[in-house]
Amino acid sequence: MKFVVRGGKPLKGEVKLAGAKNAATKLLVASILSEEPSVLENFPIIGDTAITAGLCEELGSEILKDGNTVSIKTPVIKNTRVGLLTRRNRIPVLALGPLLARAGRAEVPVVGGDKIGARPVDIHLEALKKLGAEVTISGASYEAKAPEGLRGAEITFRFPSVGATENTLLASVLAKGKTVMRNAALEPEIMDLIKFLQKMGAIIELGANRTIYVEGVSRLRGAKHSILPDRNEAVSFACLAVVTGGDIFVKDAVQEHLITFLNTLRRIGGDYEVVNGGVRFWRAGKLTPTSIETDTHPGFMTDWQQPLAILLTQAEGVSKIHETVYEDRFSYTKDLNLMGADIIVTTECLGSLPCRFSGKFPHSATISGPTPLKGMKLEVPDLRAGMAHLTAALIAEGESEISGVEEIDRGYERIDERLRYLGADIKRIDD
Ligand code: EPU
Repeated sequence: MKFVVRGGKPLKGEVKLAGAKNAATKLLVASILSEEPSVLENFPIIGDTAITAGLCEELGSEILKDGNTVSIKTPVIKNTRVGLLTRRNRIPVLALGPLLARAGRAEVPVVGGDKIGARPVDIHLEALKKLGAEVTISGASYEAKAPEGLRGAEITFRFPSVGATENTLLASVLAKGKTVMRNAALEPEIMDLIKFLQKMGAIIELGANRTIYVEGVSRLRGAKHSILPDRNEAVSFACLAVVTGGDIFVKDAVQEHLITFLNTLRRIGGDYEVVNGGVRFWRAGKLTPTSIETDTHPGFMTDWQQPLAILLTQAEGVSKIHETVYEDRFSYTKDLNLMGADIIVTTECLGSLPCRFSGKFPHSATISGPTPLKGMKLEVPDLRAGMAHLTAALIAEGESEISGVEEIDRGYERIDERLRYLGADIKRIDD
């Protein structure tokens, strides 16, 4: 599947955010903790939720879809082995907790590195072991057992990993006794998971200094929940409004989820108005360069640097981005340079402090602008980089042909249709 895009049109109008990919997938898996039905509203119809729904069905879930509402129930765990097909995203490892809780055993595929880094799961496995699971690697799978059930434990994460925090939440809510998680991740999507688990009957408290307390309960029930709006989509549309010189009202965008981004956007020369029901974005004047450093929430999110980099190619002067979350998230800049950008990637830390990638990985970028971009043939490397390609194509002179758009479809609902509605010249072509 590919997109053919003709750049140069200002994008204007209103767009509604889909539910967050990185919450919807986790809530599907969380629903397996109960045999009762759960209902998820504002559910995004994207590639990653389809893959995760397939994973749940493999384990015994029955799923009904009605537009953006999904009902899921898992009366019986029919299978404790997650198949290799689900390796297309990072969700299989999160099935360990619910399977251990419901069936005392689990087997999930080893999810290897991908285009943005090695992405190990050592922090997840260490936490599960502390909760009493025996975990071994057998061929291409992790096998976990907890015949006596899991029990609460004190866990300190060496890094506030999103996935490891979610995995530990999923495993500890039905464990015997109390679990304390220190240095936990507190992303809005994790708060959404906590809200859903609380509705299901879990007892979870948030303490100071990134601490989460869980008091295990013996049983969870089904729950109804509306998934939070996708803040990554919000940032993508905001950058599109500013970089194309347009004006977009992003319906359902939540200021609280975007505070660091909004500050950065205003410094660069974008502007916004927070109103009831969303945020409107537009360009205030000429774009000025800046320096950003990605971080865990509430810092500047790693998934926001790619659309922002396109804005910075149009700013007058030199900008710097220091990526501190993933070691290899600048591969997309090679194509941008071929389109006419001036981006130099280095292993040095171009931020306030050295990070764990210093001298080892190409994790910082210097962007000099403004540089006009020219349309060309592009191949999408990964989801967020794909959105950067698409954004670049939408401001480039001439036509771009973007292949591998299934990666973009993994995370953005009907993106071509919504962009066309905002005035973009974009066509989807089946290969
Ligand atoms: N890490 C380890 N060991 C672990 C876990 C993580 O070394 O056991 C490292 C990772 O390799 C990475 C860093 O810690 O360098 C951050 O990983 P984290 O576990 O926090 O992220 P994740 O759960 O794998 C989720 C999102 C990402 C998002 C990050 C950061 C999902 C499915 N993915 O990944 O989203 O960038 O949190 O917020 O929720 C995307 O949507 O395209 C995407 C990549």
